[in-house]
Amino acid sequence: MVSSIGSAPAKIILFGEHAVVYRRPAIAVPVNKLSASVEITANPELNPGAVHLIAPDIHLETDLSDLSSNHPLLAAIQIFMAYADIKVLPACTIKISSTIPVASGMGSGAAVTVALLRSLAGFSNCPMTEKALSELTFEVEKIYHGTPSGIDNTVIAYNMPVYFIKDEVLQTLRVAQPFNIIIGGTGIASSTAAAVGDVRKGWLADPQRFDAMFDAIGEISRAARRAIEDGNIFILGRLMNENQAVLQDLGVSSPELNALIEAARGAGALGAKLSGGGRGGNMIALVNATQIDQVCGELHAAGAHQTISTIVK
Ligand code: PMV
Repeated sequence: MVSSIGSAPAKIILFGEHAVVYRRPAIAVPVNKLSASVEITANPELNPGAVHLIAPDIHLETDLSDLSSNHPLLAAIQIFMAYADIKVLPACTIKISSTIPVASGMGSGAAVTVALLRSLAGFSNCPMTEKALSELTFEVEKIYHGTPSGIDNTVIAYNMPVYFIKDEVLQTLRVAQPFNIIIGGTGIASSTAAAVGDVRKGWLADPQRFDAMFDAIGEISRAARRAIEDGNIFILGRLMNENQAVLQDLGVSSPELNALIEAARGAGALGAKLSGGGRGGNMIALVNATQIDQVCGELHAAGAHQTISTIVK
């Protein structure tokens, strides 16, 4: 193929972050308003193996051979080549772009990897199932996230709402009644690996207390699944607030996140919580369609860096 394009959406976790690492259920949904996309164009005049990378969003322009050996883009390409049994890629230019904010809990890394794998699959005439896309992306995630649960690669590769339990067969989620979520960004980049590491330290120091918190979050995710499948957004909002209380006890919220969550609730949101690794990154609020402008306004007034509204369906 002369050129190939692959894309992948952002994601947001609705319930169950952190506890999901300890095999409690979590719920995540794609956010198709934001996406990563990768275009590969053949350069037949150059020798095989001459691969040029351009990623303007991260100010990267380089030959693949000049990337450091642990770079996630290089890892993704090598993992794909091993999967497809390709020894040398035809000469090409790989252009990567993304509208997903980095290090903010929206899965930007996993989305770039899925988009890259999709475009490599098209470019190499090697079709990949969603399952394979998800599994290969998980391999890349492990390189730079330590011990990821696998929720990011799953929801992004399948591009559908998921009820996710680590190491178990994927369960999809039927959304009985579409609902509106506002994502509010603190503008503070935070390391998911560091937050996950701190939770692990706490769990190792006091397993009983932390297991009880993970159990409580697991119960909330189970109840949230029922509420989504029954179309009961009032219960869903209450469950978001309950989930946030446990995340605060886990130590992964922050004053900035708390301020945005309070502002959303004060503006009438049905529920609000942090989303993803925490400490910085994003919060989410569940709102009626008529409240979107009001809640976005209050979030900005409380210091939100950006707000994105999305419909979960
Ligand atoms: O920060 P994010 O959106 O990548 O989410 C991390 C979610 C955690 O549960 C904290 C970690 C994980 O691997 O599931």
